Amino acid sequence: MEPTRSGKVRDVYDLGDRLLLVASDRISAFDWILEPAIPDKGRVLTQLSNFWFSRLPTPNHLLETDIERMDLPAGLNRVALAGRAVVVKKCEVVPFECVVRGYLVGSGWKDYLATGEVCGIAMPPGLSCAARLERPLFTPATKAETGHDQNVSFAAMASALGTEVAQELARRSIEIYEQGRDFAATRGIIIADTKLEWGWHDGQLILIDEVLTPDSSRFWPADQYRVGSNPPSYDKQFVRDYLETTSWDKNSPPPKLPTEIVQQTRLKYIEAAERLTGKPFAWR
Ligand SMILES: Nc1ncnc2c1ncn2[C@@H]1O[C@H](COP(=O)(O)OP(=O)(O)O)[C@@H](O)[C@H]1O
Ligand SMILES: [Mg+2]
Repeated sequence: MEPTRSGKVRDVYDLGDRLLLVASDRISAFDWILEPAIPDKGRVLTQLSNFWFSRLPTPNHLLETDIERMDLPAGLNRVALAGRAVVVKKCEVVPFECVVRGYLVGSGWKDYLATGEVCGIAMPPGLSCAARLERPLFTPATKAETGHDQNVSFAAMASALGTEVAQELARRSIEIYEQGRDFAATRGIIIADTKLEWGWHDGQLILIDEVLTPDSSRFWPADQYRVGSNPPSYDKQFVRDYLETTSWDKNSPPPKLPTEIVQQTRLKYIEAAERLTGKPFAWR
């Protein structure tokens, strides 16, 4: 059975009113899919996402996480799918990525240095790199079909979706970020920022896609956090940092990741998930 859509990381199968989402082990950085894949990454991320979905009070798209209970069409390899597949409610996807930033880092930091603002939001002067923000910022982006997602102002989002819907998305996205951040803090992990996706289902906005994983968020080990420097991270920043040490120009196919980097990245993903969920990583 062929996927209906193959994203950078996940394959989507249409089951009528439901979707089967399968997280592969593919890893992308700078909009390129890297080689080789990171073994088990899809399982680790799926289990972490499922953990959050079950903990967060907001309604979400999950219908089934147990492969044996999915009633899947023939022609799908259950062994390969176990632990990395979920059946979800098929939604009309809100065409904006709901980004919430709790720390001044990455593109937000670059923007602040250049303009004193983050995505058009005025900020106090004198903030340092990786500073914790007093109030998390909601900085939406469009979901580009190809190429980079583009940051847009809240006003642009409001004019596309209506002010009430845009406000609801901002409020609920910030709420989820704060709930995740506060829980992660009890496990020694800082969630610096995150990207959420929402969908319409039966007239309601529900949380879809993945939630609070190292692919959609920046995770930092709290004990290594220092204001003023970019902390080491659990997410693919590790892979990005490696790529920055090579001569790759980011406009041509990327260099192959060395075995050492692949293995360390795998362990970082597993460690982050185990610390957060408090459970050893399971194969299914
Ligand atoms: N419940 C849902 N209903 C409809 N689409 C969804 C749902 N959950 C996730 N999706 C979509 O499935 C795709 C997941 O694949 P992914 O590899 O993340 O793609 P991308 O390369 O666009 O990030 C995304 O386009 C996401 O918007
Ligand atoms: Mg995605």
